[in-house]
Amino acid sequence: MKISIFGLGYVGCVLAAGLASLGHNIIGIDINSEKVEVIKKGKSPVVEKDLDKYIKKYVELKKIEATTNSKEAVLNSEMSFVCVGTPAKKDGSLDLEHTKKVCEGIGKALKLKNSYHIIVFKSTMFPGSVENLLIPIIENNSGKKASKDFGVCHNPEFLREGSAVYDFFNPSTTVIGCLDEKSERIVEELFKDIKAPIAKTSIKVAEMIKYANNSFHGLKVAFANEIGNICKKSNIDSHELMKIFCMDEKLNISSSYLKPGVPFGGSCLTKDSSALIDEAKKEGLNVPLLEAIKKSNESHIDVCANIILGTNKKKIGILGLSFKEGTDDLRSSAMIAIVKKLVDRGLNIKIYDKNVLLSQKFGANKKIIEEEFPHLMNLFCPTIRDVVNGSEAIVIKNKDDDFKILTKLIKESQIVIDFVRMFEKKEIKGEYVGLCW
Ligand SMILES: NC(=O)c1ccc[n+]([C@@H]2O[C@H](COP(=O)([O-])OP(=O)(O)OC[C@H]3O[C@@H](n4cnc5c(N)ncnc54)[C@H](O)[C@@H]3O)[C@@H](O)[C@H]2O)c1
Repeated sequence: MKISIFGLGYVGCVLAAGLASLGHNIIGIDINSEKVEVIKKGKSPVVEKDLDKYIKKYVELKKIEATTNSKEAVLNSEMSFVCVGTPAKKDGSLDLEHTKKVCEGIGKALKLKNSYHIIVFKSTMFPGSVENLLIPIIENNSGKKASKDFGVCHNPEFLREGSAVYDFFNPSTTVIGCLDEKSERIVEELFKDIKAPIAKTSIKVAEMIKYANNSFHGLKVAFANEIGNICKKSNIDSHELMKIFCMDEKLNISSSYLKPGVPFGGSCLTKDSSALIDEAKKEGLNVPLLEAIKKSNESHIDVCANIILGTNKKKIGILGLSFKEGTDDLRSSAMIAIVKKLVDRGLNIKIYDKNVLLSQKFGANKKIIEEEFPHLMNLFCPTIRDVVNGSEAIVIKNKDDDFKILTKLIKESQIVIDFVRMFEKKEIKGEYVGLCW
């Protein structure tokens, strides 16, 4: 395939080398004529392990060319990758000037072209940038329509400088966000020899994943550092500790606890986080990340309450009160805090939780109820049906299989507020409100 690559920086050069070695013919375009000249001489304009070798080989084989002429490049290729910089402005906001300029040029060239062309964005940009800003620029300059006359994809880049060439051939995942199936198929085919799981998705998800990934990487670094600081004070080898931490691939280094939903609760997570922060402070250590986790969880309780209050309904049914399904444990249950806020606002609440009802007979949770919410048990109903029949909006707090019956019980006039992604929108007859989705 003939492929043009806009932007010959770290991402563009590595992509050029990688795609050339997969058998494609590359035209690299940069506004910086010095970079173009360096590539023409068979050298890499950026310092990156093994890149020089690849560029030399494929320039000599005439599989990589470089130019400053964007029009010729688009007219002589079937696909264009956009790898130009998306720096931060002085105020920290995203600067899309380079991508806008590239799209203008691609649009003008497409006006002169009859065959189908695919534009694949690799540059990191905030969700909505491609669809709301860049596609209209290409359409206005070409007089053509996205999806119909040309394809558009976002294929975020996950390389790490220093091992970028290795990362090209060994990515963790290949994410392809597309507008249409035709371009999705062609881009998927392009990466068929790269052994990595492929995630096909929308352009917006593809744009967002890079931000989620990088925030998570930052979170991990800061977390390891704060734990390290606490370890050092207690004469514990933090590297030995984190090695053992990482051996747990079920709960620690895994997809566990990574589903958007209700605030965390239960006795252990809450009390142990508080104790660790307390100990760190006693040692004179600053642990802003660990403190922020607690604050974030508390503010998520408000998010939950505000979603319910936002429906303006007065009769609210709650399915599940314990801190998670399969237990009666009410210690640090976020739902108790949420119910309290709703009762304070004068709402009429009905609750069903079979585990809490059952264990209450044996006096479990007695102390918490007495201390936190003495009238809590008066809000309980004996069946799910009682809660549903007496409510205008029903909140699902726990992913209990018994609650699946809701698809049959719910009427069109009722609202289902799903805090645990028990249902998809289409399964619910009435209005469906998701918590963070
Ligand atoms: N560097 C990384 O590790 C990395 C990793 C993942 C994603 N990204 C993202 O990829 C994008 C590119 O990053 P980079 O590090 O390669 O940037 P870079 O600054 O090294 O390279 C960008 C290149 O684009 C060129 N350019 C600017 N305007 C142009 C135009 N109108 N036409 C043609 N070329 C133009 C510049 O001259 C420069 O050579 C950014 O959005 C970045 O956030 C970078």
